[in-house]
Amino acid sequence: MHQSSTERIVAALERWIATAPPGARLPSSRALAAAHGAGPVTVQRAMHALTERGLIESRPGVGTFVRRSAAPAPADYSWQTGALGPAQPGDPVLPHTQRAVAPGTIELHSGYPAPELLPAALVRAAAGRAARSRSALTRAPAAGLPELQDWFAAELGTDPASGATHAAREALIVPGSQAALSSVFRSLVGRGGALVIESPSYWGALLAAQQVGVRLVPLPVGAAGPDPAELDRALRESGARAFYAQPTFANPIGGQWGPERGRAVLDVLRTHGAFLIEDDWARDFGIAPPAPPLARADAEGRIVYIRSLTKSLSPAIRVGAVIARGPARERILAALLAETMYVSPLLQATALDVVTSAGWRTHLRSLPEKLRERRDALLDALASHAPSALPVAVPQGGLNIWLRLPDGAEAAAVVRDCEARGLALAAGEAWFPAEPPGPHLRLNFAGPEPERFADAAGILGAVLAAG
Ligand SMILES: Cc1ncc(COP(=O)(O)O)c(C=O)c1O
Repeated sequence: MHQSSTERIVAALERWIATAPPGARLPSSRALAAAHGAGPVTVQRAMHALTERGLIESRPGVGTFVRRSAAPAPADYSWQTGALGPAQPGDPVLPHTQRAVAPGTIELHSGYPAPELLPAALVRAAAGRAARSRSALTRAPAAGLPELQDWFAAELGTDPASGATHAAREALIVPGSQAALSSVFRSLVGRGGALVIESPSYWGALLAAQQVGVRLVPLPVGAAGPDPAELDRALRESGARAFYAQPTFANPIGGQWGPERGRAVLDVLRTHGAFLIEDDWARDFGIAPPAPPLARADAEGRIVYIRSLTKSLSPAIRVGAVIARGPARERILAALLAETMYVSPLLQATALDVVTSAGWRTHLRSLPEKLRERRDALLDALASHAPSALPVAVPQGGLNIWLRLPDGAEAAAVVRDCEARGLALAAGEAWFPAEPPGPHLRLNFAGPEPERFADAAGILGAVLAAG
């Protein structure tokens, strides 16, 4: 077959490139022209063809080189399949609440408050001071900075009946409550042990429990919390000695237990010699006033209390505390140490500076109204534009609205279709420890751009109507 001079030069150079190391310099155009008895235009065409195929790259004024990443072989990690073995069955579905979305998307999927709901000026000033202090160059004790431990213990408050308080040493500083959940589940329940958990419950708690190898025992809850008789049955049947719950502004429903319910739950736990793991993640995000933490009046060491400042201060300052007493405290501290060693003193000092400043209380006082406005705006928009999606409750606090979709709707498909139209939502499956009893969505009313809530509800309404 007749080969043009360009093709001849290309074929020759391809053979040369195949054996040359990546980055090798090609002969000059003049040398190539001379070697192949060709004109400069022919050589130029050959070089162009090789560049198009990604085999060479020219650096103007320097020369032409074999491409370093020329035709990379597809990665082959197949050996890992054998080494890793089968995937664990029953892994929770990740809700992708942290997923990145296309620019311009309305973001109701994430679990964080928008920057305008954070004490930004206080955090910036405190972080600057911490950076100039000794905290920038030292480590912290495993249990945390004593002053911050003291603050968390004092924040839990005084038992009005006995006047008892929690000691500073009982508060263990953690790098966000997600880390606390893993350590607490590991310490109190352990691999193969049973844990009663609300259904629905925070997806990160499900994930942490599953990673520890805990056997989850789902307990259905509504806005007012669990039925104590059902809790009694779940503990009896499973032999569980711990119950993970969010009595105040639960993620995702946003309700809170009344004092009666709290007492009844504790009575049941006492009968079974079981712990309550009280995750108080949204204490700073009350729209209605939050009930006192149950742990405040716990004289028996029955309640392991988890409190986070991540969302209240800034997602960049991941600091929280686990408050526990007795041997449980020692076990949890050991588990924390094994997982995280200690929490950055820079973050602890920043958090302490903010929460002990005068501006912190002023900031907290301003939040309920801002949250109420956003919650109501989103509820109104949904009622007008997506009336078939029903809020399970009007959230009394927290950051989210938990929506029940009409029977037959598929939450994951609704999320996919909404995202294609510019609205990011979280599908409800991930909040259920077992099969979801129906299709749900979680919407964050505290995220960015509340002025787009009507557009968001319009998209959801259109997707539901089409589906
Ligand atoms: C109920 C609950 N617990 C714990 C966490 C995790 O908190 P942190 O960000 O402090 O790790 C969250 C986060 O959304 C949550 O909703």
